[in-house]
Amino acid sequence: MSSKPLKQIHLAAHFPGVNNTTVWSDPAAGSQIDFSSFVHLARTAERAKFDFLFLAEGLRLREQNGEIYDLDVVGRPDTFTVLAALAAVTDRLGLAGTINSTFNEPYEVARQFASLDHLSAGRAAWNVVTSWDAFTGENFRRGGFLAQEDRYERARQFLNATWELFDSWRGNEIVADKESGVFLRDPNPGRFDHHVGEFDISGRFDVPRSPQGRPVIFQAGDSEAGREFAASAADAIFTRHGTLEAGRAFYGDVKGRLARYGRSPDELKILPGVTFVLGETDAEAQERALVIRRQQVSGQTAIKLLEQLWNRDLSAYDPDGPLPEVDPLVGEHTVAQGRASVRMHRDPLTVASEWRALADAKKLSIRDLIVEVTGRQSFIGTPAHVAEQLNEFVQTDASDGFILVPHLTPGGLDEFADRVVPLLQERGVFRTEYAGETLRDHLGLAPLSVRAAAAS
Ligand SMILES: Cc1cc2nc3c(=O)[nH]c(=O)nc-3n(C[C@H](O)[C@H](O)[C@H](O)COP(=O)(O)O)c2cc1C
Repeated sequence: MSSKPLKQIHLAAHFPGVNNTTVWSDPAAGSQIDFSSFVHLARTAERAKFDFLFLAEGLRLREQNGEIYDLDVVGRPDTFTVLAALAAVTDRLGLAGTINSTFNEPYEVARQFASLDHLSAGRAAWNVVTSWDAFTGENFRRGGFLAQEDRYERARQFLNATWELFDSWRGNEIVADKESGVFLRDPNPGRFDHHVGEFDISGRFDVPRSPQGRPVIFQAGDSEAGREFAASAADAIFTRHGTLEAGRAFYGDVKGRLARYGRSPDELKILPGVTFVLGETDAEAQERALVIRRQQVSGQTAIKLLEQLWNRDLSAYDPDGPLPEVDPLVGEHTVAQGRASVRMHRDPLTVASEWRALADAKKLSIRDLIVEVTGRQSFIGTPAHVAEQLNEFVQTDASDGFILVPHLTPGGLDEFADRVVPLLQERGVFRTEYAGETLRDHLGLAPLSVRAAAAS
């Protein structure tokens, strides 16, 4: 490694739940609805001096063959309500919520985030996602109104509208004057007039300027348009690129886009979502990782994941048997609906023939194959080995830190907090105490002035 000063690692905790990582069959698995689960994870993250806690969002439970997708049956509560409650039981931890820009209105989202930023004294973050699918849209008055190619244009316009609202209070200093009574130093607070594209809104915003000025902005899409949106407007990216090689390529690509927007590489943090498995030895950790992977991919889940590629009902197949002889159905995707379906494979026939070749070569059952081809744990080993790998990842510019996705609710972060964080602190690459009050401080982002916000 070069003699550059060591980069500080940013760490965040992803609340487990509706995803393919969470293990529900483990006796230690708890509720994802009880407030105590959110409190446990948040307090663990804060005790370990993490930057923030992160909530994903799905506005409609995914379905497969017309039934709720197995891993979604637990459901999930509303983001703002959970984060507002967590603001009351934490002091420094950032609180990041995923809220989409397709089915909401700028005025209500700006009010909610400005309020969260006040209640938490400057710890709010907004992960702006652009899910557009008509299946989710059926929940809303405007269901299915947005074409896929327009999703980022709406997001850009949406974000600009909220920025005007966040900036509409140029100050919130109250002045007591004996003669004229109490008044605000800003004589015209909250006034906005925004008529751009889809948003034709005017009025008076009723939440005073919040401690951070506006929430920290995250972006999570991976397309060309998504990367450009992030480069122009986001403070951080939540990415899937969790291997060294893919991470470095993504990091270079996205950081390279910033100059066009007059921004420096430090102004956008790259944070992949990653998993980890610890053990007393590397071999034991590898064994645990395999057990966890098989818990994550039950026989039933293996069939469901195979159906997402095959686009057919495969419920009659034995997960411990061979792959179906029939080929995937090409064309409109009918088996899976919801966020799972947007991650569908672009070329099912090619992918299926690769899977067949792999299954033949290694004599794999359906379940073995799915374990093999779907995501695996990113960091496996002793606490010392994991700390070393995480540090190498950041110091060699594959990321600026990580959003850790534990596989257990709510205790999945405990061991990491107790055993890996102290080693990162010893290396001098992770804080031992919070230096600032706000999430912008934790992420090393400069404070915003009203004018800087308006210009960006
Ligand atoms: C790591 C990651 C996490 C995401 N999390 C969510 C989420 O919680 N809720 C959601 O509606 N979309 C989520 N998305 C979807 C994206 O925000 C976006 O809507 C979708 O990927 C389409 O954008 P793209 O074509 O630029 O990838 C996520 C995407 C990525 C890559």
